[in-house]
Amino acid sequence: MENINEEIVKALDGDDGRLYPYIPYLLQDLWDIGTNPQTVIGLLKDNNIAIGKDTRVLDLGCGKGAVSVQLAKAFGVSVYGIDAMGAFIQEAIAKADEYGVSELCQFEVKDIRDVVQEGKLYDIVIFGAVSPTIVYGNYQDAISSLTKCIKPGGNLILDDGYIEDDSDYQDSRVCKYSELMGLFSSNGFTCIEERYETETVDLNEYYTERIRIRANELSAEYPEQAELFMGYVESQEQECDILANKLVCATWLFKYV
Ligand SMILES: C[S@@+](CC[C@H](N)C(=O)[O-])C[C@H]1O[C@@H](n2cnc3c(N)ncnc32)[C@H](O)[C@@H]1O
Repeated sequence: MENINEEIVKALDGDDGRLYPYIPYLLQDLWDIGTNPQTVIGLLKDNNIAIGKDTRVLDLGCGKGAVSVQLAKAFGVSVYGIDAMGAFIQEAIAKADEYGVSELCQFEVKDIRDVVQEGKLYDIVIFGAVSPTIVYGNYQDAISSLTKCIKPGGNLILDDGYIEDDSDYQDSRVCKYSELMGLFSSNGFTCIEERYETETVDLNEYYTERIRIRANELSAEYPEQAELFMGYVESQEQECDILANKLVCATWLFKYV
């Protein structure tokens, strides 16, 4: 298992663990660093998922809490968000305060692999833009681990990419659509709805521009590390290209039976 700091950098599309201490600075202009919170809210509302004061929501790899905080605001539901990056958790706590939902949100610095093993079961589990293969090495281990923290009859929200069945593109981080759906089905998940974003490309380009500005600032301050910072901008650009041209990104609502 690689070092958790390297894993976090990879989950944020970087390829050099030395970037870890600079990630909060580089991503300071972005709150939602993965899943679109409105998509999650829409999936739950439009499919009449019962959410009340006793509903327990777990947001695994919650980043800066964009999904957790907006879910708490939209539904008045309690959310437990965990992420391995302390700086993101601090920001999530501040955002919950800003949105007036501190009472509903609990954020902690934890590793996903530990939290799923704690033996607590949640009604709704969110695994948003946290690459399953980066955290677990492969999809089967990731999906079977998720079953350990979802109540029977509960729901999973997954935001991830896949390769079209008829594509010859290869990428060890993702699998083909039918393989992905087959793995969920064989682990007890039924797909209720899958949703596609329409503005992903524009948004990713905007995010990359913000990161470029911050990388330039860091390069001016630490010229000896300019290559490291500009390398991160390059990996963001490559990732945008892959997302736009090679992969399909979707957000799924599954029921765990
Ligand atoms: C692309 S971000 C997505 C954040 C959030 N889910 C969202 O959609 O806004 C991926 C997150 O996964 C977190 N992460 C990666 N590996 C982790 C692990 N083993 N345990 C906890 N968090 C992890 C990273 O720190 C990062 O915040």
